[in-house]
Amino acid sequence: MKALVLSGGSGTRLRPITHTSAKQLVPVANKPVLFYGLEAIADAGISEVGIIVGDTAEEIREAVGDGSKLGINVTYIPQEKPLGLAHAVLIAQDFLGDDDFVMYLGDNFIVGGITGLVEEFRSEHPDAQILLTRVPNPTSFGVAELDASGRVKGLEEKPKEPKSDLALVGVYLFTPAIHKAVRSIKPSWRGELEITHAIQWLIDQQQDVRSTTISGYWKDTGNVADMLEVNRSVLETVEPGIEGTVDESSEIIGRVRIDAGAEVRGSRIVGPAIIGPGSVISDSYIGPFTSISEDCRIDDSEVEYSIVLRESSISGVRRVEASLIGRNVEVTPAPRNPAAHRLVLGDHSKVQISS
Ligand code: DAU
Repeated sequence: MKALVLSGGSGTRLRPITHTSAKQLVPVANKPVLFYGLEAIADAGISEVGIIVGDTAEEIREAVGDGSKLGINVTYIPQEKPLGLAHAVLIAQDFLGDDDFVMYLGDNFIVGGITGLVEEFRSEHPDAQILLTRVPNPTSFGVAELDASGRVKGLEEKPKEPKSDLALVGVYLFTPAIHKAVRSIKPSWRGELEITHAIQWLIDQQQDVRSTTISGYWKDTGNVADMLEVNRSVLETVEPGIEGTVDESSEIIGRVRIDAGAEVRGSRIVGPAIIGPGSVISDSYIGPFTSISEDCRIDDSEVEYSIVLRESSISGVRRVEASLIGRNVEVTPAPRNPAAHRLVLGDHSKVQISS
């Protein structure tokens, strides 16, 4: 069995915080969301992985390399334009050959991995298997309609009037039957070859398409509250450990990881929290559910329930909470004094706020 991971897409689809980078590299607990998918694939015993790349190919290649550090062997498959998920299958045909495969959308996060699903697919071996989850906003997804016995009756891509709240999750298990399907469909109104239509084609051909409904799903939709929440839940499982340096006047409480090359001076860190390599925390309080990426400077400040991306600095500010702070951001005090700050700052921002 192989895996096809979709990390293409063009800049126009990116959320504001990642306007300079690939959305599949948005970090969750200081690790790109794409890596959780690749690790889940490796854990399921799949080592041959094709990665579809587009405009952001260079960044993806730089992050993933040949895949050896994740225990996989990566083949990059360039896609000239984001012409749709089924188009990605079409151009990956040489790589996929006659193998069964799991297709994994690189901006999706599945709590608990995919090992159980892959095992189920291997033993039951339907023509295709999809994953569903209940969502409050089905119009933003592919939506499935099931019959009374739970079989997939129909699928629609981003319907205006959804027939259910069961959204297609970005993990699909396919046999080679999908290759004929992707060659048989036409582009949708948005000009894309939709995988939803290819799966519907299989259903129309009376092929065996099954579904599994899961909970614990997240997709990078640009929603900051959701991103903080997934970051929170992953931090709760992070392996604690101190590889950086912590001076005697600092206090580390609970599940805290301090990466090699990080430095904590005169500060209090209450986990779950991560401090990335090369970051310096001085005379500050870092509260629960906070991820500080690499090479950040937090000085004389309080930060809680927040994500701070790399090379940013926060100095003399209390308190920052429920905030997502991009790369190369500077947060410094201004004269007045509100009780709390809620920030969404894009990469390279510079703001002045009251301390
Ligand atoms: O995330 C689940 C949803 O993914 C499903 O519910 C939908 O049925 C499915 O069509 C898809 O919807 P999106 O429109 O949200 O997909 P998006 O354009 O965000 O692309 C998903 C991933 O695939 C993303 O990592 C970019 C990559 N991609 C996308 C396209 C269209 C490619 O690599 N090539 C492409 O041509």
